[in-house]
Amino acid sequence: MMVHVNGTRPVTVGLIGAGVMGADHARLLSGSVAGARVGGVCDVDEARARWVVAATGARALSDPFRLIADEDIDAVLVASSDATHEEYVLAAIAAGKPVLCEKPLAPSVEGCQRIVDAETAYGSRLVTVGFMRRYDPGYLELKRALDDAVVGAPLVLHCVHRNPANTPGQPSAAVITNSAVHELDVSRWLLGDEIVEATVHTPRPAAAAAGTADPQPLGRVADRSPVDVHQEPRVAAVAAVTVSPSSCTPSHVCDPRFRWSDH
Ligand SMILES: NC(=O)c1ccc[n+]([C@@H]2O[C@H](COP(=O)([O-])OP(=O)(O)OC[C@H]3O[C@@H](n4cnc5c(N)ncnc54)[C@H](O)[C@@H]3O)[C@@H](O)[C@H]2O)c1
Repeated sequence: MMVHVNGTRPVTVGLIGAGVMGADHARLLSGSVAGARVGGVCDVDEARARWVVAATGARALSDPFRLIADEDIDAVLVASSDATHEEYVLAAIAAGKPVLCEKPLAPSVEGCQRIVDAETAYGSRLVTVGFMRRYDPGYLELKRALDDAVVGAPLVLHCVHRNPANTPGQPSAAVITNSAVHELDVSRWLLGDEIVEATVHTPRPAAAAAGTADPQPLGRVADRSPVDVHQEPRVAAVAAVTVSPSSCTPSHVCDPRFRWSDH
């Protein structure tokens, strides 16, 4: 066991999923987060787990549930594939351990709701979702400009999110559940209100996305300012989210853009 000079033990994190994001989290936890260390790593691809183990000195474990239950593990970081998140987050809640889950929390509303219900039944906050844009300096500047009405009230928020490629094996819906979740999250956060309606368009696939339906979501965000009870809620803004593969961005770089119209 590693003990800090002041006698306190570092927060020991168990990492599930040692791919691109998992390896990056491990690097940051080991090298940039004071008072934290990676204590155990689990990946169905043992070679990936070994790579992170070599870089961090953590233990490799083959069973994610044993990693979560391990008494040396204080907190859990889930960076495995989207469809696996729910069972690991539920196990972390059952073990009473804080868990950072990479987005999406789960690829379905029902899965997300089961997690919310489990956390509610547990009785206190344990789960954080990796919506890191809320901490990004550029997004924070945009949020400040909107909150301070620097350019007036937003009417339309147009978000563009270009991915270098679709993840192999992902269904078309993953364009929303895996990519556009970022924009759905920041739309609510930037505009300070809930999405009340969503429409999904499936235009002709782009050449770079052959074989996928490339869906595009459009959200209507409510205005909660007082309205006559007989009226429909007013629309504060429409968030049109365009997510598409792009050949003009380097590999593993998302290219999110925002544009808003104001009055
Ligand atoms: N916050 C962000 O901006 C952001 C960016 C990229 C990816 N992500 C999310 O991070 C997660 C990982 O993405 P990635 O790009 O690192 O993918 P990746 O394919 O590089 O890594 C996923 C890893 O999970 C492992 N894995 C799959 N099923 C597993 C299971 N049942 N148990 C343990 N390990 C398992 C795979 O072997 C792989 O090593 C995804 O959920 C993705 O949506 C978030």
